[in-house]
Amino acid sequence: MQFQNTLSFAQQLDRDDPLKSFRKEFVIPDHEGKEAIYFLGNSLGLRPKRTIPYIEKIIQQWDKEGVESFFRGEEPWMQYHDQLVQPLARIVGALPHEVVVMNSLTVNQHLMLVSFYKPEGRRRKILCEGKAFCSDQYMLETHIQQRGLHPEEIIIELHPRESECNLRESDIYAAIEEHQEELALVFLEGANYYTGQVLNMSGIAKAAQKKGMQVGFDLAHAAGNVHLDLHQWNVDFACWCSYKYLNSGPGAIGGVFIHEKHHNDLSLNRFAGWWGHNKSTRFKMQKGFDPIRTAEGWQLSTPSPILYAAHKASLELFEEAGMPAIQKKGQLLSDYLLYLLGEINRTISHHKLRSITPPDAKGCQVSLLMPQKGKAIFNSISEKSVFADWREPDVIRVGPAPLYNTFEEVWQFSQLLQQACIENKI
Ligand SMILES: Cc1ncc(COP(=O)(O)O)c(C=O)c1O
Repeated sequence: MQFQNTLSFAQQLDRDDPLKSFRKEFVIPDHEGKEAIYFLGNSLGLRPKRTIPYIEKIIQQWDKEGVESFFRGEEPWMQYHDQLVQPLARIVGALPHEVVVMNSLTVNQHLMLVSFYKPEGRRRKILCEGKAFCSDQYMLETHIQQRGLHPEEIIIELHPRESECNLRESDIYAAIEEHQEELALVFLEGANYYTGQVLNMSGIAKAAQKKGMQVGFDLAHAAGNVHLDLHQWNVDFACWCSYKYLNSGPGAIGGVFIHEKHHNDLSLNRFAGWWGHNKSTRFKMQKGFDPIRTAEGWQLSTPSPILYAAHKASLELFEEAGMPAIQKKGQLLSDYLLYLLGEINRTISHHKLRSITPPDAKGCQVSLLMPQKGKAIFNSISEKSVFADWREPDVIRVGPAPLYNTFEEVWQFSQLLQQACIENKI
């Protein structure tokens, strides 16, 4: 598309937007009496208006029926999970029984490694990004230690080449090839939290599995943002959080994909709890763990229907909008942002702004590498109604979310950014 740097062009994109009606489904934060430009869907998505009535319904049921609410009422809590699985399966490209909603992201990563990190003989290493999100790094280190192994001997880190910002796909394949006899697991972020780079998950899964490795992805920045087809790609497992693009609220309940090929494998280690036990005998409370033969078999504890309700409020909107349309608009929002960045660079004289997000491997997030006075520029746009985030040492992350952000907001953001650059004389 031939973009233009004008308000009227941005407004035309909004008029043509098939998802434009979804913005009114969300509560938009306020800045001095006007709607703020909220570009932090990659951090904490906004609240759907229907979240409160859905949570209220759970509370009312609790008030009326107490513990019997698990079995009685319009939506018995025992069956509530079933309502979440179908929409989530469409978001991540899974079969419904390959998805389970439980716990939160880092916890689920540990649980998945219990089952899918199987060090044996020489094959005991894990391939991951050198710059993975810190929690993933802590998870890996401590998980490896509790197995009696040493992280420095187990972890193989992938890094961008010198003076580059993103991983080269060919370097990932080269590492898999080079360590083909030692790698037990490849565990990567499907979309990198810092750069927004989206990996070729299908290609990586294929290459690693050809060499006998397990493959898992952290989809915190991918779920609800980019196209996923986990079942077809034959990924072994994946985990995500639901408070970012999935708009299910702070501390929202997480999600896990476990490929159906593993559901009946009782030789896999797992940490068990009664919620993962065969539903028909769960309340007999007998000895001997008999896992549900779906992804639900990895559950441990009684889930919170309140968190389920918040999740359902958002997932319904994904069902109504459809993932292909969401993904398409996310691309267009970030493409427009990248175009406007080029426009800003034409007006500032000394140091240019640079996106470190690969234009051909991204979702809706764009990460801007700030040349100097970056923090001052960030503070300036924040004071003027922009919600973005600053990541040390020099990156501003901007994540316009397709369900509630507009092209006009992208244009307004670029105007504020340009003004802040000029004021700071960069
Ligand atoms: C890529 C990535 N992985 C892991 C986490 C940690 O998630 P949680 O705090 O839900 O465990 C985050 C949180 O933002 C993240 O962005």
